Amino acid sequence: MNEFSGQVALVTGAASGIGLVVAHKLLDEGAQVALLDFNEKGLQQEFESYGDRALLIGIDITDEARVQEVIQQALAHFGKVDILVNCVGITGVTNLKSHEVSSENLHKVFEVNFMSCFYTSKAVLPSMMAQKYGRILHIASIAGKEGNAGMLAYSASKAAVIGLTKVQGKEYAEYGITVNALAPAVIQTPLVDAMPEVQVKYMTDKIPMKRCGTLDEAANLVAYIVSSKNSFTTGFTFDLSGGRATY
Ligand SMILES: NC(=O)c1ccc[n+]([C@@H]2O[C@H](COP(=O)([O-])OP(=O)(O)OC[C@H]3O[C@@H](n4cnc5c(N)ncnc54)[C@H](O)[C@@H]3O)[C@@H](O)[C@H]2O)c1
Repeated sequence: MNEFSGQVALVTGAASGIGLVVAHKLLDEGAQVALLDFNEKGLQQEFESYGDRALLIGIDITDEARVQEVIQQALAHFGKVDILVNCVGITGVTNLKSHEVSSENLHKVFEVNFMSCFYTSKAVLPSMMAQKYGRILHIASIAGKEGNAGMLAYSASKAAVIGLTKVQGKEYAEYGITVNALAPAVIQTPLVDAMPEVQVKYMTDKIPMKRCGTLDEAANLVAYIVSSKNSFTTGFTFDLSGGRATY
């Protein structure tokens, strides 16, 4: 029940969707959690009742200096960070072929989806190395493995997240730190609700279970990946795709 008691986690994108359920699960299982999101009001509504165990931080995750600052703030507040879960993500403009994609949109999606994983992991790794323990999880996507037509910016940014995970898994393997990614297919969240219906159908049609994953299914797998039990798997992209990816 109290898998995470005595541990400190930092969750980005905690005001909605996967980040929201992951943050609740870690808090409910005993962790102290720093919650980072654009949407400070949403954080307050969801997490104020946890009192001192939840540190609520409004942030644009693409601002590297601010990321450094708030991670120092979390370290000062809780004394350490054991777990980082990166859930911030945007699709950008979708349903476009590559020749129709603007460079501006591509840069924006990379900044939010990929650079945020770099900024946050760069900021927490020194303290994890010093304590010789850490669990980092970057949320990627099946789109990063397979490439979804009409989603160049999103797919390529998530492929970059998978590449980052492979590198970091190897680099910190001797420090007691695991760095993994998770590749969900479609999970029923506001991000999916906001996508064009045609794009969602394109994705669920490819899932052998012919359905979206649930937020509970995502939270349960994330909780295992960032637990101390997950001690011999690093640099790996876990599957959460209802059978779509068998590799
Ligand atoms: N939902 C799915 O089906 C699905 C599938 C595969 C991968 N994913 C990935 O899982 C992660 C979570 O997805 P979700 O569906 O829960 O998304 P969501 O839209 O429900 O939540 C994303 C959160 O990130 C925050 N955010 C966005 N940009 C930000 C920024 N620049 N700075 C700070 N906060 C910012 C938003 O305010 C929001 O609270 C994303 O990385 C997404 O790409 C989701």
